[in-house]
Order: sequence, then C-alpha cells, then structure tokens
Amino acid sequence: MTTLLRTEGITKAYGGVQALNGAEIAVEEGTIAGLIGPNGSGKTTLFNVITGYERPDAGEVWFADRPITGLAPDKVFAAGIGRTFQLTRIFPRLTVIENMLIAAQAKDRPRNMLAWFGRDAWTHHRRHAMELLAFVGIERHANVLAGSLSYGQRKLLELAYVLVADPAVILLDEPAGGVNPTLINMIADRIRQLNAEQGKTFLLVEHNMEFVMGLCATITVLESGATVVSGAPDIIRSDKRVLDAYLGADLDEDDGTAAEPVLNKETGR
Ligand SMILES: Nc1ncnc2c1ncn2[C@@H]1O[C@H](COP(=O)(O)OP(=O)(O)O)[C@@H](O)[C@H]1O
Ligand SMILES: [Mg+2]
Repeated sequence: MTTLLRTEGITKAYGGVQALNGAEIAVEEGTIAGLIGPNGSGKTTLFNVITGYERPDAGEVWFADRPITGLAPDKVFAAGIGRTFQLTRIFPRLTVIENMLIAAQAKDRPRNMLAWFGRDAWTHHRRHAMELLAFVGIERHANVLAGSLSYGQRKLLELAYVLVADPAVILLDEPAGGVNPTLINMIADRIRQLNAEQGKTFLLVEHNMEFVMGLCATITVLESGATVVSGAPDIIRSDKRVLDAYLGADLDEDDGTAAEPVLNKETGR
C-alpha cells in the first residue's frame, strides 16, 4: 500500500498553548482513516496544518511523496486534498445550487470568465452540481437558501461541495457532529460508497465512536497534540492508554471490561 498523506513531527503553539506536539499520522491510499482524541487534543489544528490554513512551527506534511508543508490553502486544494470544516462554511444567503457553482468556479479558476459562463460550460457545471446534490440526497433543496437547510443537510452540502473538485483525499472534520441519526447513516453510506467505488481516501475526525469504528480501517489517537497510538479499530478499542485517557475512573470494576470509550465529555459520545 502507498501512503498518500503523512505528517511527521508537527508542532504548533498558540501563545502558551501547545496545540500540536509532534503529531504523526499516515493515511494509506484508498482507505478511510480516523483521527480521534479528546476536545482540545489538536485534531482540527492538524487538519489546518495539513490543508495550509495554519503553518506549523516544525515538522513536515507529505502528500504522495511531495512535501506540501506551508503551501497556501488553494495550492493544497489544487494538489488534491479537499476538506470540510467542523463548523460548516457554506454561504447561507446563496442557494444550495449557487454554493455548488461557486465550488465549480473555485476549482476551474478560469482565465476567461466568459468561457466559464458560456452556455455549454454552464450547463455542464449545473448538471454536475445537480448530480452531486442527488448523490448526497439534497437535490430537492437545490433552489432554497443554504442557510435554511438543517444542520445535517448543511454537512451533506459541504460534502457535495468538496466533491466538485474531485480531490484524491477528503478530510472531514466531525461530519456527524450535531447531525440526526438518519443523516449520520446517510453520510456514512456516502463515504463508504465513494471509497469503494471511486477509491477515494478519507481522513475523518469524529467523536461518534460507532461512526468511526464502523467506517475506519485505521484510527490514530491524539492526546495533547501528540500521537498516542495508531491502528485498526480493535487495537484502539482495547488499548490501555486510550481507555485511560478517555475513561479515567469509568472502568467497569465488576468484570474488568471497559465500556465504550466516551470521547466527548460535553455530548457524552
Ligand atoms: N487559532 C487558535 N488560537 C489559539 N488557540 C488555539 C487556536 N486553535 C486551536 N487552539 C488551541 O489549540 C488546542 C487544540 O485545539 P483544536 O485543534 O481545535 O482541538 P480539537 O479539534 O482536537 O478539539 C486547544 O487548546 C485550542 O484551544
Ligand atoms: Mg476540532
């Protein structure tokens, strides 16, 4: 297997806060990988470093054997790494389809705007956008304002938005966070389908353990900005350091087995 995305010794401090402290992750091509850890452990910061929104103090990011550390976000995106944000970043006062067309335009960066808006090109962009909206199941909302979508539907729009650019790797920051169970299943199915049918590689951050364990082949655990352990779900589930970090005194003393790890102390998931 080829490692498609890799970070090495990433550190990043904000004033006195050491958000990342040597974080290492390796994502194999064509797999769904997970990144978990308590709130504040540096997951979003690592995403920001990978995608160029933050510059690390030290360390390297590699994408398909090419160092991409410190590249601007648009360059990272153009290289083939797409992402969604923990708090969605769609344009609420534009319609759903308009959001999608903005993604298409950002992808093409046309030198000649007239060509982009030419009838054939426009028809093509609209058709592709509608196909992607249908894929995530929100095509009937194409003409409503994006701001009127439910939170879960916005997450689906963000996924469709990222797919416009057809990135090789897709980073999802809490795709199931705050989303109702029906839509969570829909999101999981779409991720699985993109992976199985198109070979898309995913790295996702998520507190919902059922979601992570069910989807991911490999899971990396961050704690205080450093990688604690990385491995298959079964290894992670039974790793003592992971249980200690998340469960503290919650170990079931009756039979010595642990309950499901609870990662998010706020939501209890
Ligand atoms: N832009 C920022 N400015 C200051 N501190 C930040 C910033 N971004 C993140 N942090 C801090 O870095 C740590 C890691 O945050 P984050 O990466 O968001 O964690 P996670 O996504 O795992 O919850 C936290 O202590 C957070 O408060
Ligand atoms: Mg986060």
